[in-house]
Amino acid sequence: MRTKLFLAFIFIILLALLSNIVFERMIIRDFNDFIRGTEEDHIYWVMASVEGSYIDGKWDRQLLGEALHWGLMLGFDAYVEDHWGNTVLSSSEVLSTISPNMRERMNSLLKLPTGTGEFVWYPLYAEGEEIGRLYIRPFERRGTVPLKEEIFRKRGKEFLVISFLIAGGGALVLSLLFTIFLSNPIRRLTRSAEKIAEGNFSVQTPKVHKNLKDEIDRLTESFNYMTEALRREDSLRRHLTSNIAHELRTPLTIIKGNLEAIEDGIISDPGAVIENIRSEIQRIIMLVEGIEDITNAEASFFRKGEIEEINLKEFIESVAGGMRNIAEEKGLYLKTRGPSMNIKTYPEKLHIIVKNLLANACKFTASGGISINWGEKNGRGSGGFYISVEDTGKGISEDNISRIFNRFYKEEGSGGQGLGLAIVKELTEVMGGRVEVESVPGQGARFKVVF
Ligand SMILES: Nc1ncnc2c1ncn2[C@@H]1O[C@H](COP(=O)(O)OP(=O)(O)OP(=O)(O)O)[C@@H](O)[C@H]1O
Ligand SMILES: [Mg+2]
Repeated sequence: MRTKLFLAFIFIILLALLSNIVFERMIIRDFNDFIRGTEEDHIYWVMASVEGSYIDGKWDRQLLGEALHWGLMLGFDAYVEDHWGNTVLSSSEVLSTISPNMRERMNSLLKLPTGTGEFVWYPLYAEGEEIGRLYIRPFERRGTVPLKEEIFRKRGKEFLVISFLIAGGGALVLSLLFTIFLSNPIRRLTRSAEKIAEGNFSVQTPKVHKNLKDEIDRLTESFNYMTEALRREDSLRRHLTSNIAHELRTPLTIIKGNLEAIEDGIISDPGAVIENIRSEIQRIIMLVEGIEDITNAEASFFRKGEIEEINLKEFIESVAGGMRNIAEEKGLYLKTRGPSMNIKTYPEKLHIIVKNLLANACKFTASGGISINWGEKNGRGSGGFYISVEDTGKGISEDNISRIFNRFYKEEGSGGQGLGLAIVKELTEVMGGRVEVESVPGQGARFKVVF
């Protein structure tokens, strides 16, 4: 990409240079045309006055002298030949008749007494007949006129050089800027992408400017998002595959043992065996449901979702309704208490949060029950709200409180993946809230999410 950019800029510089050369040539050509055109006009006037000095078939030497005198003043060395090729009068003859003072002044502008280059001749006519020829050539000029012409031509060349420097310098600066703002970030992205493709998910993701300035920043942000998704997916996959095998082994071994006992006919209490098998199957079902919940929650982390206005009371009662059976089966109560209030939130994420807190409360409580409370955060009208889930279970020791939100942290025999609270915390933070936890070991725990 850098090389391409560089070549593109070189191409632009060359194009600019070419256009400048063409432009400069055009200006100089026009200027030369202008100078030549003026000279031809002047010759035309000399011719006209020379022809005017041919009166009644002969040359009036007095008038002819004046005509050539004009020619001298316009900067021409000239002589006139008649029809037979004899010289009638020349500039040098006229020059010898003018006053020394005037001659001196003329000499300061023109290099007298002879012109430069070959004579060019023009035919002279009077009443439709050729009467002779005017031979003419310019004097070399002294004074400021040729100097000005020279300066003009020089300026043209300077223009070429300066515009080339400006275009070249500008292109160089631009290519540097492009490299810094376009090529470098893309190179960093490419390097990270290559590392990720090799399976190294711990790469440092490129930085994004604070208020997302341009497409590159947006690309980088999407890339970082994608990297984070891959990183989480990878660690989840590694963990689940090893854990599922482990978690499945125990119930399956128990089921197998029971079935073999039935086959061997060594069953004393068939009812208990069936109950055993049923409860192990229930464990497997819960495991599968747990995995389903986790994959949903992970997906929800990356789905922005829509903000909706919902009634918090109805919402919590519906989530609690889904848990009621499980709680009652364990002989636990499940109380809900709070005002009917409308809130704006991401319902999908909030559902996962509340469901995980309730599932934990059910799982880690043996007797008593669970109370869910909610309300407005800072009195009325702040728009904020809280939900608290309190149980009368085993509680959490002070040491463990700092670990329970870590991914994959769980206590022995929790039957889960140790992801529920990590997901609760991440989703709450994505929604701009926070999680608080209080517990007295042996008496219960209280989790509160505040938005
Ligand atoms: N209400 C609670 N009472 C007591 N301990 C709890 C409670 N909630 C969570 N914990 C402790 O925190 C640990 C982590 O909880 P978390 O929800 O992350 O994982 P899990 O419930 O074990 O598994 P998963 O949620 O992935 O099915 C639990 O294993 C448990 O030790
Ligand atoms: Mg849990």
